[in-house]
Amino acid sequence: MVWRNAFLAVSGNERLRSFVSSSRVTRGVIDRFVAGESAVDAVRAAGELAERGIYSSVDLLGEDTAHPAQAEEITRGYLRLLERLDDAGLSGWAEVSVKATAVGLALGAEGEALAAENVGRICAAAGDVGTTVTVDMEAPDTVDATLRIATSLRDRFPWLGCVLQSYLYRTDADTAALALPKARIRLCKGAYAPDPVTGFTARRDVDASYVRSLRLLMASEAYPMVATHDPRLIDIAGTLARRYGKAPGDFEYQMLYGVRPDEQRRLADEGHKVRVYIPYGDNWYGYLARRLAERPANLMFAARSAVSR
Ligand code: FDA
Repeated sequence: MVWRNAFLAVSGNERLRSFVSSSRVTRGVIDRFVAGESAVDAVRAAGELAERGIYSSVDLLGEDTAHPAQAEEITRGYLRLLERLDDAGLSGWAEVSVKATAVGLALGAEGEALAAENVGRICAAAGDVGTTVTVDMEAPDTVDATLRIATSLRDRFPWLGCVLQSYLYRTDADTAALALPKARIRLCKGAYAPDPVTGFTARRDVDASYVRSLRLLMASEAYPMVATHDPRLIDIAGTLARRYGKAPGDFEYQMLYGVRPDEQRRLADEGHKVRVYIPYGDNWYGYLARRLAERPANLMFAARSAVSR
């Protein structure tokens, strides 16, 4: 928990960001978890996964956008990315994941409307090339607005996915409300700073909450997207899917780029649908800090590989 809070606390520090990007050891961590800085890198990573029968969800890194021009730039970046994925013949394999704060949510009173409009533009472009979008979930104070955006767009784009985080107290109720027929719901533990007012801080409570929501989703007619690397939860997902008659293809497993690639392969080989979340772009710092907060061993792994290079 000490490590987790320390990494999350420095996730916005610019000086640390430039140190991290120039250090050989930490460069190894970036390269492991981020596909690259350009859309070409992301499309290449999605293509390599598709060749192995694995789907992807591509995230143009960006969050806490502070100016409307930045929100516009990121939105256009997604529109270009979707064109590139289509040109590469990958729109059947790759969707996109979008953060509401990247496309305007944090921009004051008009932010929610702007973010909804921009997510809508991205959805329209995704629909044109035959793929889907998932709206990522961010810090607890953005959850209501993010769910409102996703819900308001579902009439036009019924395939628009949303994310629930099991570390929040509210997630039992949100799961019950959102587990509608065909609703694409990604269930994860939650990657932002734990807060005893809004959510569980003990790992066992977060895991128990995950299992409760997973059971509800598997028993419903929704399309669960089981986003975890946790071997125990992956096993439980398989057991619940069998119990509630969900065949491979009625739900999917999701993991992050660079995390447990052997397990991704194993599940795909067993006939499951597996999707890997591929982040790319130069705004990788907050994303990376969350990965280190979850698992400081990631830094040790990269340090060892840098030394042996
Ligand atoms: P956790 O980190 O608790 O680890 C449990 C166990 O998994 C470990 O004990 C170990 O056995 C195994 N494990 C984990 N990492 C490993 C590694 N690097 N190597 C080997 N074994 C490892 N969060 C959020 O707040 N909003 C979002 O929108 C998303 N979106 C999202 C999409 C996808 C596809 C994924 C997989 C995750 C997210 N997340 C997210 C992040 C999520 O909330 C969470 O922070 C991470 O997935 C880490 O939690 P785990 O469930 O993997 O378990």
